Amino acid sequence: MPSKTKYRTHMCTELTEENIGSTATLCGWVQRRRDLGGVIFIHLRDRSGIMQLVVDSTKQASLFPVADSLRNEYVVQVEGVLKARDPENYNDKIPTGRIELVLASINVLDTSLTPPIYVDETDNSKESVRLENRFLDLRKESAQAVLVKRHQAAMAAREFLEAGGFIEVETPILTRPTPEGARDFLVPSRVQQGLFFALPQSPQLFKQILMISGFDRYYQLARCFRDEDLRHDRQPEFTQIDIEMSFVDEDDIMDMAEQMVAHIFEKTQTATIQLPIPKMTYQEAMRRFGSDKPDLRFGLELVDLTELFKSSEFKIFASAAQAGSVRAVNATGAQGKISRKELDSLVDFVKVYGAKGLSWIIYEEEGPRSPIAKFLTEEEMAQIASYIGAKTGDIAFIVADKDEVVCNSLGQLRLRLAKLMEIEMEEGFRFLWVTDFPMFEYDDEDERYYAVHHPFTSPKDEIAASLESNPAAAIAKAYDLVVNGYELGGGSIRIHNKEVQQSVFNVLGIDAENAQNKFGFLLGALQYGTPPHGGVAFGFDRLVMMLTGTDNIRDVIAFPKTQNHSCLLTKAPGEPDYNDLANLGITVMAKPQA
Ligand code: AMO
Repeated sequence: MPSKTKYRTHMCTELTEENIGSTATLCGWVQRRRDLGGVIFIHLRDRSGIMQLVVDSTKQASLFPVADSLRNEYVVQVEGVLKARDPENYNDKIPTGRIELVLASINVLDTSLTPPIYVDETDNSKESVRLENRFLDLRKESAQAVLVKRHQAAMAAREFLEAGGFIEVETPILTRPTPEGARDFLVPSRVQQGLFFALPQSPQLFKQILMISGFDRYYQLARCFRDEDLRHDRQPEFTQIDIEMSFVDEDDIMDMAEQMVAHIFEKTQTATIQLPIPKMTYQEAMRRFGSDKPDLRFGLELVDLTELFKSSEFKIFASAAQAGSVRAVNATGAQGKISRKELDSLVDFVKVYGAKGLSWIIYEEEGPRSPIAKFLTEEEMAQIASYIGAKTGDIAFIVADKDEVVCNSLGQLRLRLAKLMEIEMEEGFRFLWVTDFPMFEYDDEDERYYAVHHPFTSPKDEIAASLESNPAAAIAKAYDLVVNGYELGGGSIRIHNKEVQQSVFNVLGIDAENAQNKFGFLLGALQYGTPPHGGVAFGFDRLVMMLTGTDNIRDVIAFPKTQNHSCLLTKAPGEPDYNDLANLGITVMAKPQA
């Protein structure tokens, strides 16, 4: 679309040296005004970039007071003649750095208060101040570049899916609870008092129904809502590239999905991704990296020491070796990079992940030094060193506990050590498919199984029959796409067989009435001819984080929420009108404190 409108002839960076001598009208914001003794230079900013404007008091006497009155963020329409800059004034950092517009007129379209943040890249205001003034923050070139990239990524996804015969279908926002396992946001019904909608945690059930309805290939850039504690890569409302396909198995989905991701990276000029993306089973990922989303850009892999301690005299290790496992991470060359204080803090660090303790061995010139050395034989110490390949200067960390706790805590410790030691990460993007997830995880407190993915995920064909007799061993047709330690997306093949579905509900303790109540509409539809189907969903915000190189999800969302679920711009959530609540038949038990 041409940028010419009733207000302007060009946008700033459309003008080049070829236009020298011609007249142009530009519109935008005053980024900066400098008075160099009778000559005023203004940087005019529009979405395309910057143009330098010039008003010389000796040549444009009547215009000078207007130029002098301009302040940052005023909105102006200016007309002038494009000139070449004097070579000593070249600014090769911007595309228009060799030209400037010598003004003939200035029309102030709107004035501005003094902005509370600097609208340029030197701004170092607190994030809360930037978010309160997001309308100014988003004027920055860097913020605009992120949202432009987000848009390009969405376009690239749509282009790819369109070419693949996918149809975008919108699914309801006011709906019933969906099975992703987080807490729901509820919306009260006024018309049916006492009843509530849930906002969708994903379009999961609707996309399966679309397959039953014969759409064969569906996608949606879908808003999802999950009432969960936020992290740097989590928001209560976020966007998924949500996909479902019929008559497919795992490889069909993974092949399609990785091609889409490669297309997005290519189209946004981020990187060329080598396909196929390698695959690793969940079991291997946990064993080697203590994580189902391993960051492969550095080593520090976990080493299994369980066999060494099965009959050790050191009871803590021996009992863990029998009932769980004993594993180590060898922080190679860590001495001098981790202080004594940091070493102690790591003991508390692993406690957060359930580990009762953390043992360390420092490999010094004079030999190994460790608080557990006195409990272990010399042979055991030597075996540990040999298993982990210890050298002088290394520090080994050992956890002995339930296997799950050992893997998880050492997996987190591995990431922490990489930060503490400032390990140099491999450049670029290390993609990985993690496959063969367990179907269920057992919750000791609740004494029941939960679905690792969701209750419609299909088990591997050979496992379907033994599902109920040995749920702990059941493997799912589920896969996650991981990059540099982030879970970018995940999906599964769904169950389309009634008996298998019933077995899964049995393991999860969902009885017929409960199933009917929760997912009745899907179960009903499943009875009328269901194609084998499966799908995947990518966290679109996380994808844009990768494309733009940020580790803060708020950077890639125009109007994000903070840690405590607030929008600092709109001040949402806000107090309701208590009459509205009365109409909804709702009383609030605890009003917010003033
Ligand atoms: P899942 O729950 O794994 O799967 O979500 C898919 C992807 O969505 C992203 N994601 C989030 N991003 C930002 N903030 C959040 N709170 C958040 N929660 C999840 C992650 C994740 O990989 N219906 C299934 C998909 C399927 O089976 O097809 C689902 O939603 O990147």
